[in-house]
Amino acid sequence: RNHRSHIECRGDINRLNAHFLEIYESLIPPEEEKEKQKQLMALLNKHVTNEWPKAQLFLYGSCANSFGFRKSDIDVCLAMGDADVDKSEILLRLADILKSDNLENVQALTRARVPIVKLMDPITGISCDICVNNMLAVVNTKLLLDYSKIDVRLRQLAFIVKHWAKSRGVNETYQGTLSSYAYVLMCIHFLQQRTPSILPCLQGMEVTYKVNVDNVECCYFDQVEKLQGFGSRNGESIAQLVWAFFNYWAYCHDYTNDVISIRMGSLISKREKDWTRRIGNDRHLICIEDPFEVSHDLGRVVDKRSIRVLREEFERAAEILQYDPNPCVKLFEPY
Ligand code: GTP
Ligand code: MG
Repeated sequence: RNHRSHIECRGDINRLNAHFLEIYESLIPPEEEKEKQKQLMALLNKHVTNEWPKAQLFLYGSCANSFGFRKSDIDVCLAMGDADVDKSEILLRLADILKSDNLENVQALTRARVPIVKLMDPITGISCDICVNNMLAVVNTKLLLDYSKIDVRLRQLAFIVKHWAKSRGVNETYQGTLSSYAYVLMCIHFLQQRTPSILPCLQGMEVTYKVNVDNVECCYFDQVEKLQGFGSRNGESIAQLVWAFFNYWAYCHDYTNDVISIRMGSLISKREKDWTRRIGNDRHLICIEDPFEVSHDLGRVVDKRSIRVLREEFERAAEILQYDPNPCVKLFEPY
């Protein structure tokens, strides 16, 4: 532990519960928005099945994992059934089809790391990115959604953390900070680690769901309705958890040696993953293991400069939560 770590949080921490819950509630997407998403999906489905009768569309990312805010864009995956398709060709054809309907700003970005078609639907006002055959993302979306059903504190904590990260400018992968997906994994891991634990490790339990995607065996316990009340032996409030989350990442996490793994439900060592040195562009300065693509470190985008920015932001948040008279304002102050 770093000398500045706080063993105990301020005595009046629970005074912040109502504030955090208010922020959480205000960010939840309203029902009308979900309806509009369905409407747009139905339109896209019509075009897709018309052109490729065997293809299917799936929602993934924050619009489907329960961690999305209101007014978010939606992420869609076009599953072709055939793994060997030419993605660029499909995306260019898809863009042509969608342009002929009254969708706006339709663009095929075939050279991006994840090639997509982007568009805006003027009827619902929703923007959308469509990728091809990215089924691992669809499956990890289901895993996150299943975790969110076990204890409401996960969704509350992740909303606060994402809101903080967006306000403070540390949710920008192209600038070397972390994706929303990485932050949610950090929250799941953190709640698995509380004593008593608030979340189980679904990948360490009886297998009730199993799919093979791109030669990765994805399996875990998905009958989460049977886990209702799992975390109830732990009575920590959302304010206590937010405080402890930032205190952990500011002062307790061992950045030199540890990898967080929701797959194992524990910390694992960088040494056993061979993530101790820089290989190519992967520096492994903060290590967050993908639950299914286990060779994939979600912290790989973080470089020498941005790790400093991130850690300073964790410390800033921890200090504010410990000492500031009005932490809810200060915590989310635009950078
Ligand atoms: P918002 O910030 O609210 O849009 O959250 P989001 O969950 O949609 O954003 P993000 O772009 O982080 O993730 C989109 C989805 O891509 C995730 O839910 C994962 O299913 C998938 N994904 C898989 N691997 C990665 C990865 O390495 N980086 C990112 N960013 N996403 C990944
Ligand atoms: Mg998204």
